[in-house]
Amino acid sequence: MNRIAVVGCGLVGGSWALVFARAGLDVVLYDPSPASVTAALDLARAAAPMLAGQGLLNGQTPEQVLRRMRSAGSLAEAVADADYVQESAPERLPIKQALYRELAPLAKPGAILASSTSGLPASSFTADIEGRERCLVSHPINPPHLIPLVELVPAPWTCPEVVDRTEALMRQVGQSPIRLSREVRGFIANRLQSAVLAEAFRLVEDGICDSAAVDAAMADGLGLRWCFIGPFETIDLNAKDGLADYCAKLGPMYYDLAREQANPRAWGDALVAKVEAQRREQLPAAALEARKAWRDRILVALIKAKRLALGQTA
Ligand SMILES: NC(=O)c1ccc[n+]([C@@H]2O[C@H](COP(=O)([O-])OP(=O)(O)OC[C@H]3O[C@@H](n4cnc5c(N)ncnc54)[C@H](O)[C@@H]3O)[C@@H](O)[C@H]2O)c1
Repeated sequence: MNRIAVVGCGLVGGSWALVFARAGLDVVLYDPSPASVTAALDLARAAAPMLAGQGLLNGQTPEQVLRRMRSAGSLAEAVADADYVQESAPERLPIKQALYRELAPLAKPGAILASSTSGLPASSFTADIEGRERCLVSHPINPPHLIPLVELVPAPWTCPEVVDRTEALMRQVGQSPIRLSREVRGFIANRLQSAVLAEAFRLVEDGICDSAAVDAAMADGLGLRWCFIGPFETIDLNAKDGLADYCAKLGPMYYDLAREQANPRAWGDALVAKVEAQRREQLPAAALEARKAWRDRILVALIKAKRLALGQTA
C-alpha cells in the first residue's frame, strides 16, 4: 500500500499525514475546509524540521517528506488512487454516515477505509455502504506522529484480511498497532483510562488526597514502568515466579479493592470544581498553552530516550 488519502485534516488528520509521508508513502489530503488543509500543511512544515532535528523523521529531510504531501480539490480526487484511506472527520455520527456513503463508491474496490473515530463503532456508519467488509476503526492517540499506538477495531462484517493489511501498514509506517477481536465501547486505551480516572476522582472526592498526589502517584510511580511495560508485564516481574505467583499472593487484595471501586460515580459539579481549583493553584489558566508545549517537548525527549533504551532505530 503506497498511496494514502487522509480525509479530514484537523488535529488528527494533519498528524496522520506526517506519519505516512515520513514513512515514504504518497499522501493526498482532503478536507471540505481548505483552511484545514492549509493548517495541516503548515503543521508539517513547522514540525518536520524539529522532528528531523530530534531523529524522528525516519532519516529523511523535511523537504522529502513535504514533497510527498499534496492536497486534493475534491473527495473523489483524493481517494481515486488511494490504497488506504484514513478518515479523520468530526466525531459526529451523521457526518460519518454521510461521508462513508459518499466515499465508498469513489474509492477503489480494494482500498481500505479506516476511521480515526474515538468512540463510534464502525458498524454505526458503515452498515449500509457498498464494500463494508473493507471498513474498520484505526484509532490513534493524539498526536499520532508522536504517539505510536493504534487500536484496530473491526465491525462484525470487516474482513480479517483487511485488519491484517492495516496492521502491516501500521507497522510499516512505524506505529504500534493492537487488535481488538470485536467492537467494544472505549476500545482498550480509553477503558483503561476510564478506570484510572474514576479512581483518581474518587480519592479526591473522599478527601484521601489532593489531585497533585494522584498525579505524583502516576508520574513518579506507576507511570515510569507503564511507559515501557504494561500492567501485565509489570506484575509478571513483581513476583519471584511471575504473574501467577503475583496473583496468588495479591489477587485477593485486588479483588477487595475492586469491590470497593465497583460503584461508578458521576463526576459531579462540586467535585469537578474542587479538582479544577486544585489544578489552577498548580497551573494558572494563562499558563495552560505553555505547559502543553512543555508536555510535547518532554514527550519528544521521552520517545527518543525510550527508542535508545529499547535499541530501536529512529
Ligand atoms: N483530537 C483527539 O485527541 C483525537 C484522538 C484520536 C482520535 N480522534 C478522532 O479523530 C477524528 C477527528 O478528530 P479531530 O480532533 O482531528 O477533529 P477536528 O475538528 O480537529 O478536525 C476535523 C476535520 O474534519 C473536517 N470535516 C468536516 N466535515 C467533513 C467531511 N464531511 N469530510 C471530511 N472532513 C470533514 C473539518 O473541516 C476538520 O478539519 C474524530 O473522529 C475523533 O474522534 C481525535
